[in-house]
Amino acid sequence: MSPRLLLIVFLLGVLAPRAARAQAASYRDAREDAFVDSLLSQMTVEEKLGQLTQYTGRWTVTGPSVPQGGEEDLRAGRIGSFLNITGAAVTRDIQRIAVEESRLGIPLLFGQDVIHGFRTIFPVPLAEAATWNPALVEQAARIAAREAAAAGIHWTFAPMVDVARDARWGRIVEGSGEDPYLGSVMAAARVRGFQGDDLRDPSTILATAKHFVAYGAAEAGRDYNTVDLSERTLREVYLPPFKAAVDAGVQTVMTAFNEIGGEPATASHRLFTDLLRDEWGFDGFVVSDYTAVWELLHHGIAADSADAGRQALMAGVDMSMVDGIYIRTLPPLVASGVLPMSVVDEATRRVLRAKVRLGLFEDPYRYNDPEREAATLLAPEHRAAAREVARQAIVLLKNDGNVLPLSRDLRSLAVIGALAADSVSALGSWAALGRAEETISILAGIRQAVPQTRVLYAPGYPPARGSFDEIVAAMLSEDTRGFDEAVRIAREADAVVLVLGEHREMTGEAASRATLDLPGAQEELARRVLDAAGDKPVVVLLTNGRPLAIPFLAEHAPALLETWYLGTEMGPAVADVLFGEVNPSGKLPVTFPRTAGQEPLYYNHKPTGRPPQAGQKYTSRYLDVPWTPLYPFGFGLSYTTFAYDHLRLSTDRIPRDGTLTVQVDVTNTGDRAGTEVVQLYVRDEVASVTRPVKALRGFERVHLQPGQTRTVTFTLGSEDLALYDLHMQRVVEPGFFTVYVGPSSAEGLQARFEVVE
Ligand code: NOJ
Repeated sequence: MSPRLLLIVFLLGVLAPRAARAQAASYRDAREDAFVDSLLSQMTVEEKLGQLTQYTGRWTVTGPSVPQGGEEDLRAGRIGSFLNITGAAVTRDIQRIAVEESRLGIPLLFGQDVIHGFRTIFPVPLAEAATWNPALVEQAARIAAREAAAAGIHWTFAPMVDVARDARWGRIVEGSGEDPYLGSVMAAARVRGFQGDDLRDPSTILATAKHFVAYGAAEAGRDYNTVDLSERTLREVYLPPFKAAVDAGVQTVMTAFNEIGGEPATASHRLFTDLLRDEWGFDGFVVSDYTAVWELLHHGIAADSADAGRQALMAGVDMSMVDGIYIRTLPPLVASGVLPMSVVDEATRRVLRAKVRLGLFEDPYRYNDPEREAATLLAPEHRAAAREVARQAIVLLKNDGNVLPLSRDLRSLAVIGALAADSVSALGSWAALGRAEETISILAGIRQAVPQTRVLYAPGYPPARGSFDEIVAAMLSEDTRGFDEAVRIAREADAVVLVLGEHREMTGEAASRATLDLPGAQEELARRVLDAAGDKPVVVLLTNGRPLAIPFLAEHAPALLETWYLGTEMGPAVADVLFGEVNPSGKLPVTFPRTAGQEPLYYNHKPTGRPPQAGQKYTSRYLDVPWTPLYPFGFGLSYTTFAYDHLRLSTDRIPRDGTLTVQVDVTNTGDRAGTEVVQLYVRDEVASVTRPVKALRGFERVHLQPGQTRTVTFTLGSEDLALYDLHMQRVVEPGFFTVYVGPSSAEGLQARFEVVE
């Protein structure tokens, strides 16, 4: 049967039964499988391996040219997907060749890194996690999907759900921080946002949970470095956000570059087949990371490309990204029987199924409407949503003497720091099609917010521009030539906003650091400016994508705001908080250390046999620095204050499979409305294996008027109390548990209950 006729049969099958929705869905699945199988039966080995091949390229409108692969490959069905080609019209041109000029007319999948926005840029994922507001994060992903889909994109390589406990690792900016629970909640929210309820809705796109797995555990925080982890840590810390993404229906998973205990992830049958598919029931497809199949040669487990390709495909890695190894090297291996055809078939099936699920066989051009594209990108409501996420992502770290909010009636205000005017950095590390000229910098946001105030500006440290190397060199330079002007305006103005941190190029992929200090001479600038400002209000804004070690600022800056990279609406959101339009409510999704030497530093560590104790030599401490963090996980202040009272449990004994409720009264004890993120942590006091000193198991954002009290209720069940025992069985063990409820991982009320046989 011709593919077109096949499609008609398939469509009749899908559209006919409308009675019961559930029945129709299972019928549709069966029809999908039948359709995919018949298509598969007509495909040559080359065409199958073509579906498993993703190339990158920049399609130029001036003439058809496929940089990698070439048009002939498209016509021959030797390409299944592209990454980094964007635009409704351009992708239509390429799709047309695949659909109308290749033998089987199988549509292409267009993928792109749509990580925190597409044209409207939202805060970087770490900052989004600081909102502790999954509904908002879901909405951000929804908008990103809507924009990307309108520009021809079917598939995003997000969410990045890697737990990151080491701030030296540059990619900490791309995830939700250090905690598996918060990370899981955010992972599921983003998957729902990108994929919506129905993939056939052309404003939804396939999501990717990446990087499977433990990429964030790179030794010494150096990107791509070796990982060596126990099965326990993998299951307790690094896997949960992936499981949450799979449970939320994520359609694709990307491999990690790293090895784990001697096995490169990209060749791991244990990970991609035994765990992901057999144990978890994942039914989507797996894509390698960029050239990760080829990199198996560097890892030293493959003698040549064909061997690398064979190992990856056998492991369950369905599509190779960029290196073209499957299509180039595997046909002879299939011919000789070294690579079973059944493995190739299964991988092809999975990729075709994704295309079916997106509705691409029904209409391959459903993502290619330039009018929709023009109306969708940077729509005003998208900008408004980006501003709201940005506002909620800001974390107030310090506010001595209520320096903040600043008065709107200041006669003059000095804004110091090159990053204040840097709208490129405001966009963050994965800005897709975000444009600096559409992005409002901190300086511009302040100017808009207080038009009557005379805003003076001095860069202080050198603005970073040019190539990656030039930017890093500028950020690290000890150049102090801008200090005098900064000091002069600090003296002249009524108040000072000092913007310090890292250029966006200093975080993200291949941007690890060995120190976490403010780069270059920024701390020295801070000393000089604080000196010059005397008793005037001085607010330090941090703009960065990782925890920084800032003990000097923590001690000497009167007010300190973590403002990350907040995207297109960074400036207005920062101004909203600076001048009190918005009361900050963000909480840190990562621990801030005192110095890089403490890394990896995270709140849910194990107790050790010698827990640190002041004045006790033989306990787990440092000689030169306290063992405690500078700012703990979950920390964040407000312009108002909150009191926690009357922590109570519904019962103090539950059976292993029981549940209990935890309630606490939270009161706004200040004089302005504010939002508190109430956090619930649990500790298993005595167990058969060591347990974290605390583990987050719930949180809720509560908005309170001055004087208002609300009761917050959490439910704890067996999943919150379970552990992997010595045999790696998931069990709830009898014994006492402590519950902590409070404003961060370091403070709170406590109660106890017992799990009984
Ligand atoms: C490499 C990165 O590790 C991955 O996260 C990204 O999706 C791909 N490049 C494609 O850009």
